[in-house]
Amino acid sequence: MRIGVPAEQGQTLVAATPDTVAQLIKLGYDVAVETGAGAEAQFPDEQYISAGARIVEAEEAWSSDIVTSIRPPAELERIRRGGILISKLSPGANPALVEALAEQGVTAMAMDAIPRISRAQSMDVLSSQANVAGYRAVVEAAHAFGRLFTGQVTAAGKVPPANIYVIGAGVAGLAAIGTAGSMGAVVRATDIRSEVGEQVESMGAEFVAIPAPAQESSDGYAKEMTDAQAEAAATLYAEQTARADIVISTASIPGRRSPILITADMVDAMKPGSVIVDMAAAGGGNCELTEPGRTIVTENGVTIIGIEDLAARLPAQSSQLYAQNIVNYLKLLTPEKDGRAAINFDDVIIRTVTVADAGQVMWPPPPIQVSAAPAPKVVDPAPVAEEAPAAGGLKKSTIWLALAAVLGAALVLVSPVGMTGHYIVLALAVIVGFYVITNVTHALHTPLMSVTNAISGIIIVGAIILIGSGSWVVTIFSFIAIVISSINIFGGFAVTHRMLGMFRRA
Ligand code: NAI
Repeated sequence: MRIGVPAEQGQTLVAATPDTVAQLIKLGYDVAVETGAGAEAQFPDEQYISAGARIVEAEEAWSSDIVTSIRPPAELERIRRGGILISKLSPGANPALVEALAEQGVTAMAMDAIPRISRAQSMDVLSSQANVAGYRAVVEAAHAFGRLFTGQVTAAGKVPPANIYVIGAGVAGLAAIGTAGSMGAVVRATDIRSEVGEQVESMGAEFVAIPAPAQESSDGYAKEMTDAQAEAAATLYAEQTARADIVISTASIPGRRSPILITADMVDAMKPGSVIVDMAAAGGGNCELTEPGRTIVTENGVTIIGIEDLAARLPAQSSQLYAQNIVNYLKLLTPEKDGRAAINFDDVIIRTVTVADAGQVMWPPPPIQVSAAPAPKVVDPAPVAEEAPAAGGLKKSTIWLALAAVLGAALVLVSPVGMTGHYIVLALAVIVGFYVITNVTHALHTPLMSVTNAISGIIIVGAIILIGSGSWVVTIFSFIAIVISSINIFGGFAVTHRMLGMFRRA
C-alpha cells in the first residue's frame, strides 16, 4: 500500500520525517511525500528522497491508500473512497466532520483519540505535543519576562530567582515545571489530583495542595471540583498568583470548557511585569482576561499570552514526535510488516481511534477501562480504628521489637567476648544507614545503592584471607562469599553505568 504525506496549508508540522519514512518503508509501505511538505519543519525534499520516499504532487499524496496528516483536508473529496485517513480529527467536537468522512467512504482514524493506556503511550500524540508545548510555554514566558530566571550574586548586586507557579500538573504542566526548574526558577505547582504531588516534587518543584479533601482519580484524568474544593482553590490561586512572577496555567478537564481559575481581580493583584501563559486558551482559557490566539498587556502591566499552537512553534521537534507516534500506530496496524493495514477491531486501540469505517460513523467508541492511575482505595467512612492491640493491650510492633531486642541480647551473650565491639559497629551502621538513605530523594536510591554495593568489597578481602584456612567448610563459605559479593559489586557498577548513560548526550 502507498502512504501519502501531503503538504498542509497553514501548517508548520508534517506527518512524516525522513527518519520515520525509513521506518514506514521497513513496514513494507511505499511512501509518497508531497513536494515541500517538510519545508517549514526543516526537512527538505532531498532528505525524504534519501530515506526512500518519492516526491509527488498534492493529488497523488492525498489519493494514496493511507493518508497521514496533521489535520483533515478542507475538501474531503481529495481522499479516495476506501482510503484510510490517519490524522488529528477532534471527533468529540466535530461530529459533522466524522459524518462527512463516513459518507465519503473513508476509514478515518483520529490520532487525538488514542486511549491513555500504557500500551498506547508510544502513540499518544496529545501527550507528545503537550510535552513540547509545556517547554515552549516557558520559552514564551522567558521572552516576555524582563528578568532572569536564575538567582545570581553578581558584582553589581543580587538577582532573585523568578517565582513560577504552574496550575495543572498533567503532561504540559510537568514539562513546564521541568523546563522552568532547569532554567533556575523557583517553581510551585497545584493540581486537583493529589496523586500528582509526588511527580511534581520529583521534578524539584514544590507541590501546593488545595487545602480541601482531594479527589482520587481512577483513570488519570481530573474530575470537576467539589464546591469545597473550588472555594479553597480560589483562595489559594489568589495567594499564589499575587506572589508569582510567572503563572503557567494548563488546567483542563476532558470534554469540558477550561475552568476559569484566574479572575480579573487576581490579575489586578499581580505585580507589573508578571506574565501569564494560558495554555488552556484553545479551550476558552483558565484566565478570565485571556484572548485566545493573542498576547495582551493589562493596564497594570501583566502580559497574558494566549497562544493556541505552542507545539507548532517548534515544528521540527513536534513533527518528529508526531510522525513517530504515527509509525508506532502503523506498526500495530501492520503486524505482518507486509505493507498492508490489517484493521482489527478486537484491538482496543484500533477500535477506539477509528471514528468512521465502511460508510458507518464509529464514534463514540465503547468505553474502555484505562489504567493511568491505580484505582482509588475504598476508604471506610467510619473513623479509622487504632491498630488492634494484641493480647495484654500491647501493639504487635512493640512485641516484635521486644522479641528482636531479646534475640539480639542473647546473640551478644553467647558470642565470644571479642565480638561485642563488632555488634556495636553493626548497630551504629544500621542507624547511620537508615538516616542517610531516608534523607536521599527516591530517584537517587538506585545509583546510591548500586555504588554502595562496592562496600561489599570488604567481604571479598575477608573471604580471600580465610579461603586458605584449611577447613573445607570455611573454604566453601569463603568461595560463595567471593562469588556473591563480586556479583553485587560488578552488578552495581553496571546498573550505575546504565543509569548515567541515560543522561549522556549521544
Ligand atoms: P492533562 O489532562 O494531562 O493535564 C491537565 C491537568 O489539569 C490535569 O492534571 C488536571 O488534574 C489539572 N486540572 C484540571 N482542573 C484543575 C484545576 N481546577 N486546578 C488545578 N488543576 C486542574 O492535559 P495536558 O495534555 O497537560 O494539556 C493541558 C492543557 O494544555 C489542555 O488544555 C490542552 O488543551 C492545552 N494544550 C495547549 C497547547 C497550546 O499550544 N496552547 C498545546 C498542548 C496542550
